[in-house]
Amino acid sequence: MIRAGVIGATGYAGAELVRILAGHPRVELTRITSRQYEGRPYSQIYPCFKAVVDLTCKGYDADTMARNADVVFTALPHKLPMEIVPGLLEKGIKVVDLSADFRFGDAGIYEAHYQPHTARHLLKRAVYGLTEVYGAEISAARLVGNPGCYPTSLLLPLIPLLRRDLIDPTSIIADAKSGVSGAGRAPSLGTHHCEVNEALKAYKVNAHRHTPEMETVISREAGRAVAISFTPHLIPMTRGMLTTLYAGLAPGVTETEVRHALEDTYAEQPFVRVCAQGEFPNTIHVKGTNFCDIGFGVDQRTSRLIVVSVIDNLVKGAAGQAVQNMNVMLGWPQETGLLAPPYPL
Ligand SMILES: NC(=O)c1ccc[n+]([C@@H]2O[C@H](COP(=O)([O-])OP(=O)(O)OC[C@H]3O[C@@H](n4cnc5c(N)ncnc54)[C@H](OP(=O)(O)O)[C@@H]3O)[C@@H](O)[C@H]2O)c1
Repeated sequence: MIRAGVIGATGYAGAELVRILAGHPRVELTRITSRQYEGRPYSQIYPCFKAVVDLTCKGYDADTMARNADVVFTALPHKLPMEIVPGLLEKGIKVVDLSADFRFGDAGIYEAHYQPHTARHLLKRAVYGLTEVYGAEISAARLVGNPGCYPTSLLLPLIPLLRRDLIDPTSIIADAKSGVSGAGRAPSLGTHHCEVNEALKAYKVNAHRHTPEMETVISREAGRAVAISFTPHLIPMTRGMLTTLYAGLAPGVTETEVRHALEDTYAEQPFVRVCAQGEFPNTIHVKGTNFCDIGFGVDQRTSRLIVVSVIDNLVKGAAGQAVQNMNVMLGWPQETGLLAPPYPL
């Protein structure tokens, strides 16, 4: 058994990590941390874990964490992991960070959109944790920067198309909708029930921090600098994310070639499911799972490809992919502990 620790275990991504790790057959969850709830049983914070997770929230210190864990997940707001992760790596711990702190190889891009980076030396060592695409690099990594939820939902369908030059990379438009848990557990006016219930709004138009993350990967895959149009929306459900992508098809490209690109790329990947022709995915089909479902169709009138992808933002968009990355880092089958059957509703 490998011993795992979760820093920031009482947040939404942290709680999802606790849920998945508690059922992982090769992991013992040994240490969970929280500032606000230090000393409190975890099942008091999340009563669903009563008689399931018998752990108490601890304060964080690097030495104790290193004595108690072989792998650590940092599920903290960005800026904090860059202060904590160097100390963990020095003690021989493998780390999957769920924040943005280690998603960018280029400190300049990170600093243009977040804040000064205090662990710049680690950026080149960190691997971007889009498991299906960068699995080989992840298997050799000691530090993985787990992707953002929007980037995961968008990059999984786009990368196979870019790699085969099937779309015009400069024409990509992404319209995405996220459940409210994407904003984290801390209460705020923007996520208050009365503000979001029976409401639908775009937010951070032309200003979302996931745009540079997506553009960095798309540019790498396209072999040239690419900008995309990305508009996120908040939708009144707890979890789930649906992204609709529009892109001009390269001249002469057929729907069959698009299907082959997606199906060939993900044929051996357990967590990407390509819908049959004419079918489109639904967030409820991936709720609580690590799946990304992808459907597509060609609009013959405009020669534009329309792709729809869905994930659970807390699972494939955060904790599930983080555990998938841990599995790959440890040389285990990537689906270990992640294949619990989904809820039908
Ligand atoms: N929610 C999602 O769908 C999602 C998806 C992908 C990635 N992520 C990333 O995962 C990380 C955690 O997100 P989340 O949604 O779980 O956030 P959250 O619900 O707000 O949880 C944040 C956690 O960090 C802890 N924390 C420690 N120091 C903190 C500080 N100085 N300020 C605020 N919190 C502090 C909090 O607990 P204590 O205050 O008790 O310590 C809490 O457990 C973020 O980097 C986020 O970008 C989230």
